Formats: sequence, structure tokens, C-alpha cells
Amino acid sequence: MDIRTVGVVGAGQMGNGIAHVMALAGYEVKLNDVSTEALDKALATIGRNMERQVSREKITRDEMDAAMARITTEAALETLGTCDLIIESATEREEIKQKIFDALLPHLAEHTILTSNTSSISITRLASRTDRPEKFMGFHFMNPVPVMQLVELIRGIATGKETFDACLAVVDRLGKTAASAEDFPAFIVNRILMPMINEAVYTLYEGVGNVRSIDRSMKLGANHPMGPLELADFIGLDTCLAIMNVLHDGLADTKYRPCPLLTKYVEAGWLGRKSGRGFYDYR
Ligand code: CAA
Repeated sequence: MDIRTVGVVGAGQMGNGIAHVMALAGYEVKLNDVSTEALDKALATIGRNMERQVSREKITRDEMDAAMARITTEAALETLGTCDLIIESATEREEIKQKIFDALLPHLAEHTILTSNTSSISITRLASRTDRPEKFMGFHFMNPVPVMQLVELIRGIATGKETFDACLAVVDRLGKTAASAEDFPAFIVNRILMPMINEAVYTLYEGVGNVRSIDRSMKLGANHPMGPLELADFIGLDTCLAIMNVLHDGLADTKYRPCPLLTKYVEAGWLGRKSGRGFYDYR
């Protein structure tokens, strides 16, 4: 199947990164969000991140201009219906994703492949509530999207081979590398990464180390590019908590119990970089 147009639903941190890499790879991109302010902000972010790539000679000015011209912002979700591929990248809450799919379904072309950038929610369950479980799968990018090499491709129980192969071809054209994962809670990356982050929060909660010593230990002692608490702030503490809850509920094992300190930070609205405060203060 030949994919030319890609619809991206949600213009936040992940959505703008997905639009960025798709446009640079030559796809026509329709970027949608409920908020026009978020769409304006996303275009500005994409422009800034591409400028950085131009200044570091990763791409040329002409490539940037051509890519920016391939992105159109769409306030109406139904205009994405004719896209060949749609990647939903809204907030990590199942009821929000469900609402988006319900609103999209009546407008979808028959051939459209529907995917979700969910970092943990069951692809099989999301797919079962659409009219096209065989044309539905998980298309999970890592943050920051323009930099990270991996895309997790997650097959729901009914995902067809043609759908999987078409998404794999897109990953290849992006110049990224795919890892195929089966549909179990949080798939591969977050099944391993989030318990580590959660354990770092427990290490803080129990007073084993402070924020800086925990992060320093993992950066210098395990060669991680970011410490786990810094990374949690970067991902968003609400997203980290949502993923831990999916693991805890889905695998029914107390080893996935979210740390009470993580819950408390989220309840306080201390969500990390995006809210100005998390384990670090960004104000
Ligand atoms: N767009 C384009 N380029 C960007 C960018 C962006 N948003 N952010 C950084 N870059 C580029 C920089 O231009 C720089 O390029 P060069 O190598 O050509 O100089 C390169 O990335 C490195 O950036 P910096 O020098 O500014 O900073 P750094 O060396 O500290 O790296 C980082 C920043 C890439 C974010 C690095 O700290 C890192 O890899 N951190 C870990 C990130 C990670 O683990 N992500 C996965 C999170 S889990 C996830 O996403 C799954 C989920 O579902 C929650």
C-alpha cells in the first residue's frame, strides 16, 4: 500500500515531532488539534527544531522549507478522513483516544490505516471499538521524535500483515528503526523503562539519595544520557503515572505499584518540564 498523506491527531510534544519527521521524509501532513493555540505552538516548535537541524547541517534550508510547506494544520478532525495513514497522538487517556476514534470513523476512507502512538494502552481493545481492527495498530515514537532512532510497532490481535508491512515501510522511509512488539501492557520500551523510573522515585521517597545524586548515579554509573528523574520530568510525570497504572492494572503484580510520591507530584500539578516544575524547578 502506497502511503502519501499522514494525519496526526494531537499537536503536543509527540504530535509535533511526528509531523516534523513525516514532513521531512516527504509525506503530506495534516496536523490536527482541538486547540488552535496548540497548532500555532506546534508549528513554531517544528520551525525551531528544524532551524536547529539546519544550523547543525543535518538538513538544508531548502529541505526545511519544503518540509514546512508539506504541513497543514487542521482544526476539524474530519478533514483527516482521506489520509492514507492516521497517527493518533493525543493525551495518554483511553477515553480521550476513544472519543477521537469515534469522531473520525464516519469520515474515514476505506483504505485508511488507523494507528495510535499510545505508550501503553491495549491496541487490541482500541482496535475492537473501530470498524477496522485489521487496519489498526500501534505506532509508538520515542521523545524527542526527531532525535530518537526507535519506533515500536505493535500488532493488535487482529492487525493484518498488509497493515504492519505498510507501517514498517513508513518507518524505513523515516530513516528510523522499528522494533516489533506484541500487545501486552506498555509493550517493550515502557515495560522496562517505567519500572526503572518508578524505582528511582522510590529511591527518593525512601531517602536513599536526593534528586541530584540519583540522577548523577545513573548518568555516570550506568551511562544513561539523562538521569531517571530528569527523564521523568522530560516525559511528563502524568504520563509516567498513567503508564505505571496500566502496568499495575494489566499485569496485576505489586512490583508495578506506582510510588506514592509520583502520585503526589501529579496531584500537585507538578508534571515536569511542561508545567514548569517536577523533580526539578524549570521556572
Ligand atoms: N528536535 C531536533 N533535534 C533535537 C531535538 C529536537 N526536539 N532535541 C535535541 N535535538 C538534537 C540536537 O540538535 C543535537 O544534535 P547534534 O547531535 O547534531 O548536535 C542532539 O539532538 C543532542 O541534543 P543536545 O546537544 O541539545 O542535548 P543532549 O546531548 O543533552 O541530548 C537528548 C538531548 C537527545 C534528549 C538526550 O539527553 C537523550 O537521549 N535523553 C534520553 C531521551 C530518552 O530516553 N527518550 C525516550 C523517552 S521514553 C519515550 O519517549 C517513550 C514513552 O512512551 C514515554
